[in-house]
Amino acid sequence: MAVSRIISSLLSRSSPATSALGRRSRVVQRWFSSSAAAVDEEAITPPVQIHYTKLLINGNFVDSASGKTFPTLDPRTGEVIAHVAEGDAEDINRAVSAARKAFDHGPWPKMSAYERSRIMLRFADLVEKHAEELAQLETWDNGKPYQQALKAEIPMFARLFHYYAGWADKIHGLTVPADGPHHVQILHEPIGVAGQIIPWNFPLLMFAWKVGPALACGNTIVLKTAEQTPLTALYAAKLFHEAGLPEGVLNVVSGYGPTAGAALASHMDVDKLAFTGSTETGKVVLELAAKSNLKPVTLELGGKSPFIICEDADIDKAVELAHFALFFNQGQCCCAGSRTYVHERIYDEFIEKAKARAMRRSVGDPFKDGVEQGPQIDAEQFEKVLHYIKLGRDSNANLECGGNRVGSKGYFIQPTVFSNVEDNMSIAQDEIFGPVQSILKFRDIDDVIKRANATRYGLAAGVFTRNIDTANTLSRGLKAGTVWVNCFDVFDAAIPFGGYKMSGIGREKGVYSLNNYLQVKAVVSPLKNPAWL
Ligand code: NAI
Ligand code: MG
Repeated sequence: MAVSRIISSLLSRSSPATSALGRRSRVVQRWFSSSAAAVDEEAITPPVQIHYTKLLINGNFVDSASGKTFPTLDPRTGEVIAHVAEGDAEDINRAVSAARKAFDHGPWPKMSAYERSRIMLRFADLVEKHAEELAQLETWDNGKPYQQALKAEIPMFARLFHYYAGWADKIHGLTVPADGPHHVQILHEPIGVAGQIIPWNFPLLMFAWKVGPALACGNTIVLKTAEQTPLTALYAAKLFHEAGLPEGVLNVVSGYGPTAGAALASHMDVDKLAFTGSTETGKVVLELAAKSNLKPVTLELGGKSPFIICEDADIDKAVELAHFALFFNQGQCCCAGSRTYVHERIYDEFIEKAKARAMRRSVGDPFKDGVEQGPQIDAEQFEKVLHYIKLGRDSNANLECGGNRVGSKGYFIQPTVFSNVEDNMSIAQDEIFGPVQSILKFRDIDDVIKRANATRYGLAAGVFTRNIDTANTLSRGLKAGTVWVNCFDVFDAAIPFGGYKMSGIGREKGVYSLNNYLQVKAVVSPLKNPAWL
């Protein structure tokens, strides 16, 4: 189902899960049943216990080699949630050795694909069983609305593993007719040890996009989580071991980018690297891979995605969808519809309504029912977003609403709308990664295609029109890995995702993601009797 539909229905009413949760215990009732509150009130503490804060290497939770830890912070307050073992190069070495041993000598790559699939299915079932704890940890660490985590992201997380479990026993090679009396088999083999570096905006979903296909293909993994959000991956990896995953197959190292992340990208014994994050860091890891052992790299990077609203659009629907396209997840989406192009004939009405919608957006403690927007992830991102708002204010764009922080603690920012934005302004060029909508005016379809494509990015695009010819012209003309027509942010395990241009290299999800984790081996042998050809 479209995430947009799930989210908007969730946020507009109290959900059954909320009341079920409320019934479970008095503690739970207390933390969840209080009514919507201002940002500066005391932050709600979820009932989940934090059990896993160490590195997960070779099936065991261990301290970092240096003994160091780092704090993971609550973005609602900036206060410490937990101290987590801080992995660096030495821990990456240990984790890569464990993954290498599990690949070369362990059961995983040689296990029947059916059995691999069953372990992955058991894991997905455990995720569903532990959905509330996972969602609570995700919201606590990241600041996203709890209902979004519980009702949209955790089910999608489980779905991704159900999907990839389905692939495990359907990955097979080919035989091909070669010119000459030869028998030719094409084998699809796992690539080996996969290094995976993920960001903080969707910690569990990014875990699934990476870990799912790698495991389905029989690889072993060292996963480096984002330093802002280490908690849920450790919990999920523990569940994977409960489901029967052999030791050393999935190792999780928490830590910082320039230390643990760089060590993984440049490791000589890592056979493949997958990265999601900024375009700048994407370039760094690609270089590290090239300078070390030329491991193949897939990159899922930034975006500045256009959302084009044509003159025939139902304006109210377009306003709601454009609002969702940008503000979902506090605007922290690689594919956010962050350039809203509106046809000149409906422009003025659209601006009024988009502004009114943004002003109605409820900002507050993400654990509260009905809150649509929590805090930005950390002080650095908070400052970055406010910096871009300042650049917008200093330009000829009109600040329609928002523009300031909300409250006096944590990293909350008002939903902000700029109109009269021009293509060359920084707010129309750079990835802001926050709740800032930039609205631009257009007249002509061919011209808006050129303008929409005039960016270094090419991750996604949205089109809103009732005219099939306009939809076809736009979706063929836009240079983007995904074009959503009359919808936005529709994700499914089966739909490939990735970017043109500097938005990345390769595709994740769907059948396309499997190739990232497979080697292709041609086995050629003579046929004694050419008549068998
Ligand atoms: P980042 O790209 O620096 O971090 C993403 C991951 O890369 C994290 O796990 C980080 O520890 C790791 N990393 C950082 N430096 C590294 C290095 N030298 N070697 C190896 N790994 C390294 O992104 P950051 O700093 O969190 O956010 C900066 C901007 O990136 C955001 O404002 C946003 O524009 C963009 N971004 C895009 C995301 C996407 O989904 N494509 C996700 C997160 C951020
Ligand atoms: Mg960074």
